[in-house]
Parts: sequence; C-alpha cells; structure tokens
Amino acid sequence: MPDDKIEAIPGVGSKIAQQLKDAGYPTIESIAVTPPREIMEKTNIGFNKILEIQKAAREMFSVDFKTAQEAYEKRKAMLKCTTGSPKLDKILGGGVETQALTELIGEFGTGKTQLCLVLSVTAQLPTERGGLGGSVAFIDTEGTFMPERVYEIASNMGLDPSAVAKNIFVARAYNSSHQCLLIDRLFTLCKENNVKLVVVDSMISHFRGEYIGREELSERQQLLNHYLHKLIRLAEAYNVAVVVTNQVQADPTSFFGDPNRPAGGNIMAHACTHRVIFRRGREGTRLATVIDSPSLPEEKARFKITGKGVEDGPDD
Ligand SMILES: Nc1ncnc2c1ncn2[C@@H]1O[C@H](COP(=O)(O)OP(=O)(O)OP(=O)(O)O)[C@@H](O)[C@H]1O
Ligand SMILES: [Mg+2]
Repeated sequence: MPDDKIEAIPGVGSKIAQQLKDAGYPTIESIAVTPPREIMEKTNIGFNKILEIQKAAREMFSVDFKTAQEAYEKRKAMLKCTTGSPKLDKILGGGVETQALTELIGEFGTGKTQLCLVLSVTAQLPTERGGLGGSVAFIDTEGTFMPERVYEIASNMGLDPSAVAKNIFVARAYNSSHQCLLIDRLFTLCKENNVKLVVVDSMISHFRGEYIGREELSERQQLLNHYLHKLIRLAEAYNVAVVVTNQVQADPTSFFGDPNRPAGGNIMAHACTHRVIFRRGREGTRLATVIDSPSLPEEKARFKITGKGVEDGPDD
C-alpha cells in the first residue's frame, strides 16, 4: 500500500486535497473507486483534472487489472463476523463477511435490528474470537438503535459495555438525502476509526416513504443503486462488512407461495452479495433462510433472540 495521504497523488496540491477531503474522499482508495462525475458534483474540480487525478490514484492503488493470485490474496483477507448463533453462522458460511454486502430482509419484529445490534458488539471481538477486530458505524433510519440493548448484549458476553459502546458510531438519518450524506461520510469515518462493520438499518424505508408516485420510481431506484454501489466499494476498499436491512412488501402478482417479497426490486437484489430472509417461527423462534447467494446454498437456520443477543433455536 502506498503512502495513503492524498497529497501524495501527482497533481493534488493542498487546495485540491482539501476539497477532496471536504467532499468525503480522504484517501487514495476512495478517489480511485468513485465515478468521476460524482466527484465533480461534490467539488469545484474540473472534470479533466479529476480524470487525471483518478488515473494517478488508480496507478498508486492498483485498481486496474490484477492477477488472479493477487485477487486470491485479497479474498484471503476476508473476515467473518459471528452472530453468536452457530446455526446462523453456518448458513452464512461462517458469519457475516467483509468485502460484501449482506441484506437482512423480513417483516416487522423478525429480528433484523436485533441482529444488527448483536453484530455491532461481536464485530469488536478479536478475529480469533469470531469478530472483525474493529469498530462499527451504524446508520439508524428508524430511530430503533437502542444503546441499552448494546449494553445488555455486551455485558452478557462478558465484555465491558461502555468500552464496546464507545466504538459504535451511530447516526440517526432523518430522511433519504440525509442518509445519502451519511453514507458519503463513511469513507472518512472507516479510514480514521478502523471501522470493520457498517450497518444501514433500514436501507430503504426513507426511500419508500418519500418517493411515492410511479413517476418517481426510477429516480428512487437510481439513487438507491448509486448508494448501494458506494457501500460495495467501501466494503471492498477497506475490508469492511456491510449489513443493510430491508422490508418486505405485498406482492399482488403472487397467487402461490409467499405473498411477500423484498422491497427495492432488482436493484436491491443485484447489489447485495448475500440475502437472508427472517420469518417468525414456532415458540418465538425466528427462521433465517439464505436466498440468491453466489457462494452459499439455500439453507435455513432457527435462532432465537435472547438477553445475550441471538442464540441457536431448537433443532427441527
Ligand atoms: N432482550 C430481548 N430478549 C428477547 N427478545 C427480544 C429482546 N429484545 C428484543 N427482542 C425481540 O425482538 C423483537 C424485535 O425485533 P427487531 O426490532 O429486530 O425487529 P425488526 O425486524 O428490526 O423489525 P422492523 O421491521 O419493525 O424494524 C421483539 O419483538 C422481541 O420479540
Ligand atoms: Mg428494525
């Protein structure tokens, strides 16, 4: 990795460096992987200058062709974050992955937020204990981030709750444009604070609430797509696990099977690496099913929400 100060990029003086930092591109990686038009919209830098800077940044960060061996080494750096439930970890291929976007889908009260809170604690464990050894950024769009619950989970895991809570950076997003702004800020936050888990709970509720008409749908989907891809780039550039939650919506075309489908359509389906659906099960348990994953089989796991976080449910 080259010296990662952006002033080290040929053509970037202190003035341009400041503009880039202010716009949320504090590192060579973030400049190398962002579409040039986006940088232009957020700074006063001319398009050709941006192309020149990006070319130099890409050479330094080597985001052009790389060998399969290099790709393999990068994949080997991937970490998996335990959920605290061995059954749930198993269907996730060992836990929630870094360098990937994991989507938790389900009706209200199925445990999406609960799992996000649990992961905010377990992500801080050292890697030998199934954690990611880093801190956490949590974008809360529904006002359901409960610090008391973090304290409860951490102390039940034998950790110092206030030390754990100090490593969770929470932001309440009040509308979709605020949510987008907070996502823009993640590159800086992740870099400066060794963030290894990013949560957006929920990714879609503001978008669904604000873009109501049919004519607004394509604008909504475009924006959603843009920010989901931003999260993917973040996951890959910093070896971060990104978890987003999603709701289900009634599917009027479905006569058989599940009458609900995940919101966000194809954009959401394609952007997320792993999709997990939560449903209510018997005796207060929850049933998780992995769907559409490129690397994981479609398997189910029963878990329950407890004082400790989430734990295995009874065998079927
Ligand atoms: N300490 C606890 N012990 C046991 N169960 C708990 C505890 N805290 C919360 N729960 C359970 O978690 C459920 C809430 O789950 P959660 O808030 O994660 O749902 P959600 O999927 O995020 O829903 P929404 O779509 O409304 O955001 C509650 O119904 C409750 O059953
Ligand atoms: Mg929730």
